Amino acid sequence: STQRTEIELPAAFDAHVHLRDGDMAELVARTIRMGGVNQVYVMPNLVPPITSVQQCLAYRARLQAIEPKVEYIMSLYLHEDITPEVIREAKQAGIMGVKSYPAGVTTNSSSGVIDYETFYPVFSEMEKQDMVLNLHGEVPSTPRHAHTSTTTTENGSGAAITILNAEHAFIPTLLNLHSRFPRLRIILEHCSTASALAAVTSCGPTVAGTITAHHLSLVIDDWAGDPFSFCKPVAKTPEDRDSLLKAVVRGQGRFFLGTDSAPHPRSAKRGADRVAAGVFSQPYALGYVLDALDAGVRRGVLGGDEVGQEVLEGFFGGWGRAFYGIRDKSGERVLLTKDGVKVLDLLEGKGGVEVVPFRKGEETWSVQW
Ligand code: NCD
Ligand code: DOR
Ligand code: ZN
Ligand code: ZN
Repeated sequence: STQRTEIELPAAFDAHVHLRDGDMAELVARTIRMGGVNQVYVMPNLVPPITSVQQCLAYRARLQAIEPKVEYIMSLYLHEDITPEVIREAKQAGIMGVKSYPAGVTTNSSSGVIDYETFYPVFSEMEKQDMVLNLHGEVPSTPRHAHTSTTTTENGSGAAITILNAEHAFIPTLLNLHSRFPRLRIILEHCSTASALAAVTSCGPTVAGTITAHHLSLVIDDWAGDPFSFCKPVAKTPEDRDSLLKAVVRGQGRFFLGTDSAPHPRSAKRGADRVAAGVFSQPYALGYVLDALDAGVRRGVLGGDEVGQEVLEGFFGGWGRAFYGIRDKSGERVLLTKDGVKVLDLLEGKGGVEVVPFRKGEETWSVQW
């Protein structure tokens, strides 16, 4: 990217998106191509969550009706309704994976997983069917009244869990699942710490990680005062951020783009209630990444010559498609230009829906098809 102001690439694969439903989906699905992307892996955390093959296929049909020039790769939400039989049915229907959310960790995760062991028969069938397990890798925070020295956690570390160590504390669960199901393809989604990256790297080639655009630039201070930069997992330290930048270019294809673009109505980001977690990055997905890589080069974290065509093609699509075993049959390409296009202040859709994009009003790259 660096030095260059024009980059031509195959259209991208975004391996982790929240497209929602109804009026919000109408708005968001139309911004996928705006960001340089024509293939997406769709998260299932609707209300209620997508826990059956029939719901999942109906959801895909709704998305296709909104924006037919995108390929939607679908997932189910890990839940007690998901049995080995549902896994076999899902495989037949072309559903690629299952997303697991620890109960209570983030948006719409109240019906998430409490005990992974309960799902071993499901994971075993997924392994047989060669499906992908997508992990939201955070341990739920210790209830505030229980912050005492005698607190024990799921992982037995004894330390109270907060949003700052929630991902680190999840690593034993990842390693345990990988050692029990070594042929099961697992993705640790939205890696946000150096220790998560190291854990993924320590596993065999069946384990990969996604990295968002926003975690490549944000640190704790950025979201502490800005609800539009607040997401789960939260952005961590500058050292963590820099290790993510290095993983993009030196990760040997084990880490690829999954933006975790997670739109919430503007009103859910402000106002009297708890701030909803999620950064909306879909419309400028590739531009945000290029900006973060440029900043990494300027700070001397990355060498200018490290951010070459091969890395960009890999991170933006080649590596993710290889892990999922998919191709982009369209052969479409995009031209990215560093021409100072301004990020919109607000996107407005039907039914009065309003979403504020990440880094509103700032300059980024434009995308031409
Ligand atoms: C989250 C939640 O409670 O589900 N809130 C949200 O995204 N609207 C935040 C959290 O889990 O702490
Ligand atoms: O910040 C987040 N928002 N993290 C998630 O894992 C879920 C997402 C959402 O759906 O809003
Ligand atoms: Zn997640
Ligand atoms: Zn997500």
